[in-house]
Amino acid sequence: MGRLDGKVAVISGAARGQGRAHAVTLAREGASIVAFDICAGFEHVLTPPATRADLEETKRLVEEHQQRCIVAPVDARDLPALLELADRAISELGRVDILAVNHGVWSVAPSTWELDESAWQESIDILLTGTWKVCRAFLPKIIEGGRGGSVVLTSSANGLTAQPGAVAYCAAKAGILNMMKVLAWECGEHMIRVNAVCPGAVATPMSQQGGTIERSEQWWPRYITTRRNLLPIDWQPSESISDAVLWLASDEARYVTGVALPVDAGWTSF
Ligand SMILES: NC(=O)c1ccc[n+]([C@@H]2O[C@H](COP(=O)([O-])OP(=O)(O)OC[C@H]3O[C@@H](n4cnc5c(N)ncnc54)[C@H](O)[C@@H]3O)[C@@H](O)[C@H]2O)c1
Repeated sequence: MGRLDGKVAVISGAARGQGRAHAVTLAREGASIVAFDICAGFEHVLTPPATRADLEETKRLVEEHQQRCIVAPVDARDLPALLELADRAISELGRVDILAVNHGVWSVAPSTWELDESAWQESIDILLTGTWKVCRAFLPKIIEGGRGGSVVLTSSANGLTAQPGAVAYCAAKAGILNMMKVLAWECGEHMIRVNAVCPGAVATPMSQQGGTIERSEQWWPRYITTRRNLLPIDWQPSESISDAVLWLASDEARYVTGVALPVDAGWTSF
C-alpha cells in the first residue's frame, strides 16, 4: 500500500531535476500525476532548456510505477493554459489532491543595480507571479473535491538568506514564503494544508549546467567561499527534496501547515 494511493498530484517544472524526482516519488507512493513544464528556453537564463523529450521521460518513469500520467508543455506564466490543464486533470483523472509548485529559473547579474529591467521582470514573472498563477488555476479543483489536500511551494535557502547577484531570485523566493502563509490561512478551513520547502544546493541542471555558479563565483568569491553546509556534503540529490515533499503531501503531515521547511544540509541554520 502506498502513502498516496488513489490521489492525484500536479507538479510544475516536471521535465527534469527536482520536479521529475517529485513526480516519480509521488507515483511510487500511489499517486497519478499531472506533470507540466515549459520545455523551452528563456531570455536571461544560462541553464539549457528542458525539452519535450525530458517531459516524456518523466511520463515513462511515472508509468513504470503503474500510475497514470498526463504531461503537457505549459508555461506557468500562461493562466489560460493552466486553467485548461486543470479542467483536463479533472476530466481525465477525476480529482486533484496535491499541488507541488516546483518550476523555477535562476539567473544572476553582477549586482542589483546592474540588473536589466527585463531580467528582473522575467524572474519575477516566472517565480513569483507564476507560482500564484499555478495556485490560481489548480486550488479551486482541490477545494471543489471537498476532501482536503496538500500544496507544497518550492522556495529556496535563498528565500531565507541572501545571495549577492541574485536579487530577483531571492526576492521572489522570499515572496513565495509569505504567499504560502496567506494560502495556509485561506485554505485551512478547506482542510488544505499549504507549506513550502527551501532546498539548499541540489544537483540539477539549474545548478550544474550553463555556468551560473561559475559567474557567481567570479562576481562574488567571498559569498562562494563563505558558503557552507553543516553536513559534510556539497550537493544534495533531488530525491532529498522529493522525500520532504512526499511527507508534506502525505497524511503523516496532516497537522502541518504554514511551515517553511529547509532541506538544506544545515545551510540556513546558522
Ligand atoms: N538546484 C538547486 O540548487 C535549487 C536550490 C534551491 C531551490 N531550487 C528550486 O527548486 C526548483 C526546481 O529546480 P531544479 O533545481 O530542479 O532546476 P531545473 O532547471 O533542473 O528544473 C526546473 C524546471 O522548471 C521548468 N520551468 C521553468 N520555468 C517554467 C515555467 N515558466 N513554466 C513551466 N516550467 C518552467 C524548467 O523548464 C525546468 O524543467 C526551482 O523552483 C528552483 O528555484 C533549486
